[in-house]
Amino acid sequence: MADRNTPFVFDCWYAAGFSHEFGRDLFARTILGKPLVFYRTQDGAPVALSDRCVHRSFPLSHSTLDGDTIVCGYHGLRFDPEGACIEVPAQQGPCPAGIGVRSYALREQGPLVWIWMGDGEPDADLPAGEWIGDPQWPASQQYYHLPASYVALHENLLDLTHLSFLHAGTFGTPDFACAPYDLELDEERGNFKLIRTVKPTRLPPVWAEPLKLTGVDAVRQTTSEFAAPSAHLVHGHFYALSDEAFPPDTRIITAHLPTPETATTTHYFIHHGRNFAVEDDTVTDFMQQQLAAAFVEDIEGLTALEKLASAIPQDDQFEISLASDRAGVAMRRWLLKAATA
Ligand code: FES
Ligand SMILES: [Fe+2]
Repeated sequence: MADRNTPFVFDCWYAAGFSHEFGRDLFARTILGKPLVFYRTQDGAPVALSDRCVHRSFPLSHSTLDGDTIVCGYHGLRFDPEGACIEVPAQQGPCPAGIGVRSYALREQGPLVWIWMGDGEPDADLPAGEWIGDPQWPASQQYYHLPASYVALHENLLDLTHLSFLHAGTFGTPDFACAPYDLELDEERGNFKLIRTVKPTRLPPVWAEPLKLTGVDAVRQTTSEFAAPSAHLVHGHFYALSDEAFPPDTRIITAHLPTPETATTTHYFIHHGRNFAVEDDTVTDFMQQQLAAAFVEDIEGLTALEKLASAIPQDDQFEISLASDRAGVAMRRWLLKAATA
């Protein structure tokens, strides 16, 4: 099954950054091991090019944005937004045809910019769903640089038994680890779900306060969904036990969007939204604050795990899997297949 040594899946949309990061300044980010440079044209279109000048490998992100073109800071080759070299100052006459740097397709969705890392034309929908950017789904965003493999992050999200332990101090409750769950494992589509229902339970403040369920016997249903190598959606449906026959349609979705930087480091984008209290910014701020504490626990846990793994030989890394790992194991098998197909 897939692990930190598995090649990346290139034919996929990955979160490249937040829209506000794309401006009239060049910025660099490595994605799937490829150094890239980003900017916006004067018309506002986001651009992604290989960061390595094809002449002598100078980083274009250390160069100059001139109108819609980049002028390399070393010997002045000029590249247009498609990556074509359109000027070579050291050479008289027309620029040699067919030289340039690779450009990448980008797509904006609400506060996110996605990048297609595959060689061909993009042939998939954006992976996290259409609610992102919908005003009926107010949301907050976060970014973490995670010094761990994105495979480990996906597995963490498909294994909610860790809530009772790693998150004992934040949103984990003791009853979570042994609560019953259902699985929906679709090998064909590469979609893996774990649905865990805890009832009756008391909700932690992060959900209880905004939903006005403090001190109330409640149902806590959480679905972790691996939707793509770049997108993992955690759907929360929480309501009073007394409303079980006709539960309200109050939904919370956290899109965890891991974009591998290298095999053992990950750009971890988070888009956290809800479909209730739509006008209330204090709810957005409160949930963001509370959740950030829990996300940091995952990051610290995964960082420690990665550090230990990198310090011991591969042969000493034998692991056992438990029944509760079934969704994670199925996902990792699929990921290995997709990466090596
Ligand atoms: S390295 Fe870019 S122009 Fe020479
Ligand atoms: Fe977690």
